[in-house]
Amino acid sequence: MPLVLVLLLFVRIISPLHATSARDTISPSETLGGGDELVSGNGKYKLGFFQTGSESSRNTSSYWYLGIRINRVPTMTPVWVANGDDPIADLTAAVLTISPDDGNLVVLNPVTGSIIWSTQANTTTNDTIATLSDGGNLVLQKSLDPSDVLWQSFDHPTSCLLPGAKLGRDKLTGLNRRLVSRKNSINQAHGAYSLELDPTGPSQFVLVEINSGITYWSSGEWNGQFFNSIPDMGTYSEFVNNSREVYLTTPLKDSNAVAYLSLEVSGQARSFIWYEQLQDWVTSAVQPKSQCDVYALCGPYTVCDDNVIPSCSCMKGFSIKSPKDWELEDRTGGCIRNTPLDCSSNKAMGSMSTDGFYSIPCFRLPQNAQNTTVVASEGECAQVCLSNCSCTAYSFGDYGCYVWHDELLNVKQQQHSDLTNTKVELNVRLAGKELKFGGNHRRPMLVWVVTSAAVALFGLVLLLMIWRNRTKRYCRILNSVQGGNGIVAFRFIDLQHATKSFSVKLGSGGFGSVYKGFLADSTAIAVKMLDGIGQGEKQFRAEVSSIGIIQHINLVKLIGFCSEGNKRLLVYEYLPYHSLDVHLFQSSITFLNWKTRYQVALGVARGLAYLHESCRECIIHCDIKPQNILLDASFTPKIADFGMAKVMKRDFNRALTTMRGTIGYLAPEWLSGVAITSKIDVYSYGMVLLEIISGRRNTSEQCTSCAGDDVYFPLRVANNLLKGDVLGLVDPKLCEDVSLEEVERVCKIACWCIQDKDSDRPAMGEVVQILEGRREVDVPPVPKILQAVAGSHY
Ligand SMILES: *[C@@H]1O[C@H](CO)[C@@H](O)[C@H](O)[C@H]1NC(C)=O
Ligand SMILES: *[C@@H]1O[C@H](CO)[C@@H](O)[C@H](O)[C@H]1NC(C)=O
Ligand SMILES: *[C@@H]1O[C@H](CO)[C@@H](O)[C@H](O)[C@H]1NC(C)=O
Ligand SMILES: *[C@@H]1O[C@H](CO)[C@@H](O)[C@H](O)[C@H]1NC(C)=O
Ligand SMILES: *[C@@H]1O[C@H](CO)[C@@H](O)[C@H](O)[C@H]1NC(C)=O
Ligand SMILES: *[C@@H]1O[C@H](CO)[C@@H](O)[C@H](O)[C@H]1NC(C)=O
Repeated sequence: MPLVLVLLLFVRIISPLHATSARDTISPSETLGGGDELVSGNGKYKLGFFQTGSESSRNTSSYWYLGIRINRVPTMTPVWVANGDDPIADLTAAVLTISPDDGNLVVLNPVTGSIIWSTQANTTTNDTIATLSDGGNLVLQKSLDPSDVLWQSFDHPTSCLLPGAKLGRDKLTGLNRRLVSRKNSINQAHGAYSLELDPTGPSQFVLVEINSGITYWSSGEWNGQFFNSIPDMGTYSEFVNNSREVYLTTPLKDSNAVAYLSLEVSGQARSFIWYEQLQDWVTSAVQPKSQCDVYALCGPYTVCDDNVIPSCSCMKGFSIKSPKDWELEDRTGGCIRNTPLDCSSNKAMGSMSTDGFYSIPCFRLPQNAQNTTVVASEGECAQVCLSNCSCTAYSFGDYGCYVWHDELLNVKQQQHSDLTNTKVELNVRLAGKELKFGGNHRRPMLVWVVTSAAVALFGLVLLLMIWRNRTKRYCRILNSVQGGNGIVAFRFIDLQHATKSFSVKLGSGGFGSVYKGFLADSTAIAVKMLDGIGQGEKQFRAEVSSIGIIQHINLVKLIGFCSEGNKRLLVYEYLPYHSLDVHLFQSSITFLNWKTRYQVALGVARGLAYLHESCRECIIHCDIKPQNILLDASFTPKIADFGMAKVMKRDFNRALTTMRGTIGYLAPEWLSGVAITSKIDVYSYGMVLLEIISGRRNTSEQCTSCAGDDVYFPLRVANNLLKGDVLGLVDPKLCEDVSLEEVERVCKIACWCIQDKDSDRPAMGEVVQILEGRREVDVPPVPKILQAVAGSHY
């Protein structure tokens, strides 16, 4: 039965190859018209003319492009576009062919012969052919000497990088392969952002806003294994710097996988993997992580807020400049002023401007502030701004008085004020009329100008005295907001939509059920619906906020939450891979070798150590078990469900109680009613370690009927350690292909972790040190409770 299923799947994937005897090559005198396609030999990619825009809606762009799309997936995914800047209006007036004149691959009007697009290679023959390779590379070569590549699409990428393609520079020819985002979701012309090798020299990649040349993200330098700012990427990518070229490439490990990297209209670089079971793309990585970190994403006079979708909105008193572009996700045009400012203070001395200010609480103030040195009060700071017609905003605080002239760019809004202590307000200059009639939500803050020579003089003295310190503090405020670790408050209806009405259930546990979903930007999420939570909304928000700022490579990231009425949901990043129990106990899934198991043990220890020791407030997980340890594509473990005790409060205990029948991970103090410390996690971790070693559950039901020699495994470990025989404890599936020293170390740690008294157990930080080989460990005593439990059960 499963075999049939596998075969069916296989046939479905492979069929395009045999079903159509599509060609992958175009030769001289052949043409490719509107409906024709070249398909790569493996059926994965196709080249042809296409129209962008959603297929479900009839409102597609009236323009056609020649490009390469992924053939294996049902959703339209262009990965390369030839004529992005020169779309074709009438498809009947365009064919792809080899130019009889110079052998270039060209799109031309068959009637007039005028060329719409050309590979523009420096050719010496018209005897050339163009082939779409299995890797999705369109190659123009001499038909007599195919090794002589005249031009290839991999050398001229648009917004996507396919596996195996290079991103970087050819040192001899100067060719710079970089990605450039598209104009919007329909128009394939080049857009505002580029991803390229740092032109200033260091071996790193940067994201740049092309018009201003401003770099808003960098990968960090290559250290031989990974780029410093994105350590998780190292396992997949290669950075090459030889005498000819310097580039990054990501080979495809599994030739059946379908994946690509794209520089999105939004200025974020995003990696996609096709997920067969879901029939959809899953985002496997995104940089910068925070949408609002993209430079000038929302254009002038906007505020960017990572917590809402879309993240851009106009400042009060401004309207979207181009609603059409805005709709198509290109918001770089920003907003324009509704009512012109009153510049009377420039015109006639003494007459007062009727303009006022509207204040926006910000995480990040606009660029290019100018500071004024002679100001004592907020009112005076406002006056400085009002006295110059080009001044558009001011901000006054500990740091002094800052004013801005002309366009305001890159303002990031503060929403969860409880997430940060820094309070910065930007006061945007508006015409008085806007302020009088507009205020529907907030009362606009009108600052009436007060001039007082005495105040000014006093202020000057005061300011001179304290100037330096304050300037420093100002800089810190601006820098500290770059990380963007806020979490999103979702509306229930949005989550309902994202999860297709909670239709894909991933699992359920003591706290509720988990559902799969996608955000509007196609980020995959896991939504946990909490059962019967008694906590009030405010408290829930506070707890969730404190958990949301915890980030570590070995912890599953909390993206957001929803709290409406009695509904409480948590939204996590989705990992399309199995949890540790599936890997360990269900032999049909991937097999974990010893090296991997050791790395998993170390990763989990690091994650827990971080929760216990490095966070501002110690977080006890309370429910460590293999089901809560997810492994990603490179088998990096990620601990799920941390902070549940904080979120669930009293209900947590009840939820745990209902699970006790099946557990083997709960420390004895749960039953004895003494104070719970982080050592209960250490105990559970020890139990998990034992299962990692043995590859089977500590409490295996089958074993009640097993032969008498099958002693309760944790007890056997303790006994065997004393006897000095650990090899017999190891999962037979490993075939003794293990490091004996490491097995012994792990057994000792596990046994120390499950000691009866919590004070005898090591802290997770110590466990990490031992696993890293930085610290020695003695043979532990046999835990007494274990002995008692085992005695009564077996
Ligand atoms: C397509 O969309 C544009 C802009 O959104 C709109 O102006 C136009 O009327 C639409 N065309 C059709 C046929 O719906
Ligand atoms: C190639 O060019 C030669 C003359 O330069 C011409 O005679 C020949 O027909 C061309 N070949 C094709 C396939 O157009
Ligand atoms: C074109 O190729 C010829 C011969 O290979 C070479 O001499 C010439 O410099 C090339 N021109 C350009 C612009 O690369
Ligand atoms: C490549 O290597 C050369 C010599 O080792 C070095 O000078 C250069 O900076 C490197 N370039 C990049 C982009 O890493
Ligand atoms: C603020 O003004 C002082 C004095 O004019 C100047 O030294 C300082 O660099 C300015 N700071 C900023 C951030 O513009
Ligand atoms: C207004 O400010 C701008 C920018 O600082 C300056 O160039 C201009 O001279 C000022 N205008 C007046 C009237 O002060």
